[in-house]
Amino acid sequence: MSTNARALCMIPGPVEMSDAVLAANSTPATAHTDPVFAEAFGQVLEGLRTVVGTKDGQPFVIAGSGTLGWDQAAANLIEEGEAVLVLSNGYFGEGLADCMETYGAQVTRLRAEPGQRQALAEVAQALRAKTYKAVTVSQVDTSTGVLADVKGVCEVVREQSPATLVIVDGVCATAAERLYFDAWGVDVVITASQKALGSPPGVSVVVASQRALRVVETRKTRVAAYYASWARWLPVMRAYEARAPKYFATPCVQAIFALHTSLRDILADGMEAVFDAHERTAAKVRAAVDSWGLKTVAAEPALCSNAMTAIWLPEGVQAADLLPKLKARGVVAAGGILAGLAHRYFRLGHMGISATRDNGNVDKTLAAAAAALEECGLVLKPTGRSSPPRL
Ligand SMILES: Cc1ncc(COP(=O)(O)O)c(C=O)c1O
Repeated sequence: MSTNARALCMIPGPVEMSDAVLAANSTPATAHTDPVFAEAFGQVLEGLRTVVGTKDGQPFVIAGSGTLGWDQAAANLIEEGEAVLVLSNGYFGEGLADCMETYGAQVTRLRAEPGQRQALAEVAQALRAKTYKAVTVSQVDTSTGVLADVKGVCEVVREQSPATLVIVDGVCATAAERLYFDAWGVDVVITASQKALGSPPGVSVVVASQRALRVVETRKTRVAAYYASWARWLPVMRAYEARAPKYFATPCVQAIFALHTSLRDILADGMEAVFDAHERTAAKVRAAVDSWGLKTVAAEPALCSNAMTAIWLPEGVQAADLLPKLKARGVVAAGGILAGLAHRYFRLGHMGISATRDNGNVDKTLAAAAAALEECGLVLKPTGRSSPPRL
């Protein structure tokens, strides 16, 4: 299929990639012991520290997807019967809670209504009521596009329960939303290659604080995972950072070359410029949504993520009606995934090069969405706003 005929992939990940990233992803077979690969891997590990804002956080770059990061955090940090507080803003918060339970955690779910996030006072109250080994927070829950207040959550945890670990699911946030790992006191950030990091799916990225690594060292019980065990990967990560290949399990060589290329471009722009670009792009998307007379699922602008936008459809229009009309205009968007409400909204991703490069992807997407909505019968005039469905 010619790339010209291809529809733009504007879902909340995987995202559009630069030609340089695509080329890096299709390099010939290369040994994982090759010095060229060791150099690229080492630079990826170093670069990820800059992306999340840490000096001594330990990156783990392992073949897998974002979900493997959940398994890594749960398997390494949580022992049978330990309490974990999950701040759940939707589908992915629920998934992370399930994953924690899989490894024996006693999970308390602090849920927000769709489109909302927990008040910090609620988090503080939960932390006063019980001692938790860890608190998890999805920085952006991709089911709603709601942005969590990670800085505020870290502050509350440090005030109320300083020993509690803060685990951030940054799969739909890292490199799009500001996060300052050391300054905020984050213990673990979990992400993946295929979202704002701008490369193909296939790389699980986790950064763990030294404090989190000490927690693993002082476990009473054995880590109930083999592939996801940090003790097995730590020597490998340290070795590659020293440009000396070491084997535990085969790294995804081409996916790491691709991630190396996208990181090079992100770091050349600088993190603050990258965050600003995502902020501007998201503001443009929200302005369009407003001009269509529609509402975002995130209930107010301060709760809207800069990585993606979830948009309530007008009464009588379902995601299944809209998405093929968008596709016919050359843009792939995503439907909803919140249980019971999935058909009532759709989602647009605006991460990576669609935010940081002047490539017209977002303008094309917004024009296609406007036309597709009109074809669904929406009169695009900023009169008579639609209301979000009753929950
Ligand atoms: C917030 C969030 N967490 C976790 C995941 C799981 O990541 P993956 O699909 O790469 O396993 C996703 C996937 O979209 C996500 O958006």
